[in-house]
Amino acid sequence: MAHVIGLDIGNYSAKAVLLKERAGKYILVNFAVSDLAEEPIETLEPAQRNSIIQGVIKQLVVSAGLKSKDVAISLSGDQIIVRYIKLPYMTKEELKGVIRFEAEQYIPFSMEQVVLDFCILGEISEEGQKKIEVLLVAIKEEIVNQYIQLLQGAGLNIGLIDTDSMALHNALECNYDRKEGETSAIINIGGKFTNLNIVEDGITRFSRDIPIGGINLTRDISKEFNLGFAEAEKLKLEQGSIIIESENVVLTRIPSKEDKSVRIYSSISTTMGKLVMEIRRAFDFYESSGKKKSITKAYMCGGTAKLQNIEKFISERLNLPVEILNPFNKIEIENLADFDEKVKQFGVVLPVAVGLALRNIK
Ligand SMILES: Nc1ncnc2c1ncn2[C@@H]1O[C@H](COP(=O)(O)OP(=O)(O)OP(=O)(O)O)[C@@H](O)[C@H]1O
Ligand SMILES: [Mg+2]
Repeated sequence: MAHVIGLDIGNYSAKAVLLKERAGKYILVNFAVSDLAEEPIETLEPAQRNSIIQGVIKQLVVSAGLKSKDVAISLSGDQIIVRYIKLPYMTKEELKGVIRFEAEQYIPFSMEQVVLDFCILGEISEEGQKKIEVLLVAIKEEIVNQYIQLLQGAGLNIGLIDTDSMALHNALECNYDRKEGETSAIINIGGKFTNLNIVEDGITRFSRDIPIGGINLTRDISKEFNLGFAEAEKLKLEQGSIIIESENVVLTRIPSKEDKSVRIYSSISTTMGKLVMEIRRAFDFYESSGKKKSITKAYMCGGTAKLQNIEKFISERLNLPVEILNPFNKIEIENLADFDEKVKQFGVVLPVAVGLALRNIK
């Protein structure tokens, strides 16, 4: 089977990854990452947005030397509807026959307008009844068509549409040994969204795309310093950090105008607090539903995971060990010398694209 490119088109950057398989091992062939625009892409007119994305994708494919025309993409946030539901026990074949009918009550659109997919996560027994737990994903057909056109315009075919969440799951599973009884979270903090997965015994049992990401932080900085978005972004990348109170005495005095990093931190702290609250709330919801276990570890990734001290901050606030998800932990890198620096710089934004590239080999 020809290998397909994993293409993660985010709200801030696009990433392309090509893997191959040799003797049961995955090998990174090449990858490329490119920011989309100086302004958040969602603020642009659709036509302009599409032409920017097409341009970036074309250039990505060239710069990563990718010959394949088939890509796997993923959707997230308000582009998809994801539901974790319970149904009376039935086989996969049986479910196939009734899924559209069963799904109707969970999907706020007419069933004629959506593309549906499902996955049986497991079997449970509840009140003496055998049931199945099902992941349901619905995408509006209109959105699928928009992506087909967008990618066609860049000379590519869509071989598969996934969700960011499932791609993250696959990237984690491929790269880390599963520990019996361990329940962990994946937190991918991107530009517009934070994808949150809760993975129990190798199955993602909860996922949510929280509409908070690095773009919100840049907006906060832009307000505080009265700067345009691009300038605020630059300031964030150069001097942004989270000031950990336990380590830094700086917060005990009133920040002076010169204390840029303190001002940056105080401008983003409300948003950071909201993000942590949303994650906490999802954890609480998960831990209180049924006999679910408590979360003992978090893997973090996404561009915003590069914000200084964010790892410590999340770890302290959630009271959990946090590790950066390395998408090449168990994937061999060919020509390591050429890639080493690039992987160090961009690895953290690649888990979704790696998860997509993996899907196509399986
Ligand atoms: N060194 C850094 N410090 C702080 N933030 C950073 C750094 N590098 C990148 N970012 C932020 O990471 C965000 C982009 O991350 P990423 O590329 O994972 O998002 P995306 O996948 O395009 O977005 P989404 O998944 O929300 O659609 C941007 O907001 C950017 O400002
Ligand atoms: Mg993303």
